[in-house]
Amino acid sequence: MKVLTVVGNRPQFVKAAAVSHHLRRRAEETLVHTGQHYDRELSEVFFEELEVPPPDRNLGVGSGSHAEQTAAAMVGLERAVMEESPDAVLVYGDTNTTLAGALVAAKLPVPLAHVEAGMRSFQRSMPEEVNRVAVDRVSGLLLCPTGTAMENLRREGMGERARLTGDVMADVALRFGPLAERRSSVRERLGLERGGYLVATAHRAGNVDDPDELARLAGLIAAVAGESGPLAFVAHPRTRAALAAAGLLERLEEAAGVVLSEPLGYLDFTALLRGARAALTDSGGLQKEAYLAGVPCVTLREETEWVETVESGWNRLVGLDAERAVAALEEMTARRSADAPDPSVYGDGNAGERCAAALAEWIDGGRPA
Ligand code: UD1
Repeated sequence: MKVLTVVGNRPQFVKAAAVSHHLRRRAEETLVHTGQHYDRELSEVFFEELEVPPPDRNLGVGSGSHAEQTAAAMVGLERAVMEESPDAVLVYGDTNTTLAGALVAAKLPVPLAHVEAGMRSFQRSMPEEVNRVAVDRVSGLLLCPTGTAMENLRREGMGERARLTGDVMADVALRFGPLAERRSSVRERLGLERGGYLVATAHRAGNVDDPDELARLAGLIAAVAGESGPLAFVAHPRTRAALAAAGLLERLEEAAGVVLSEPLGYLDFTALLRGARAALTDSGGLQKEAYLAGVPCVTLREETEWVETVESGWNRLVGLDAERAVAALEEMTARRSADAPDPSVYGDGNAGERCAAALAEWIDGGRPA
């Protein structure tokens, strides 16, 4: 069996770290990087630290509008798929890279498998939600991280194509978490003490692109840091650029309790998270990673795909409301030891192996490559 895997963004490198090695025991894998993320700290460092096989091709797509980025990725991916003639194309998550890979495979056509299928925020204004819905619709094999995702697909009439595998990011968190603690010196570098700080990230279009929302985000970070800091704000390049353009970056740099950091590699970020009192984020992956690490999370959105983290009381949705964020943090850090999170809702650390097995079964009935 020959599989062409498409990656392009930071979270997809993490997901590939869980699946690729298992897949390569059963299949010949060609790894194609669209180049949507290209900075070393958003790309290369993840391949190195998480032992992801180096990409066989990099399409160098880079940044642009949704149409520019998706179209450029499609042109390069179509060529790659035609030249490689794989038995299946594998895509991860919900980014423009995912959409490009899915549309190319569906139209050539080549059987298409989607890892992290069935996630829904039910917010069509989110570009990622559009990508999820479109990619699931054209995929032949839907590999789901949670029972909630399975149920979403069943409700949309796609239950027969869905398999429950567990969450591949949880595999990586379980495998690399302890290593991160041993290897990383990030806390010393940032001058933070274990258990004595908050960690924050934000990069969603909804929070960063609109000037009013961006100002609320910056206000929230400064207010929370002033009230309950120190707070390590690990800024995505997109967020940093938007803050700088709006004249808000300097203000944040000078705000009491804010420790501004460049993007971090997987091991440094994981160590920073695991030593934090709580996390604030609009990232989906981080909500889950915080839960698995037993770190309370305040989510800077009004809805989430990872509903289990909220239902268990370890995650609160506060939008960009600083008062709600401070109140949620106080409440959650006070009751921190009340009931431990249950990592099994995201699988048992073997989701990557299940994805590889399900794909092999689907393509060639499980015969060796
Ligand atoms: C993308 C995904 C998002 C995912 C995130 C993970 C889409 C629609 N969004 O968002 O779902 O959560 O990746 O991080 O696909 N930039 C750099 N260096 C890079 C890459 C980007 O500086 O290596 C800057 C550029 O200014 C670029 C901006 O970040 O315009 C946005 O990058 P883009 O890839 O469009 O989206 P992300 O915000 O990274």
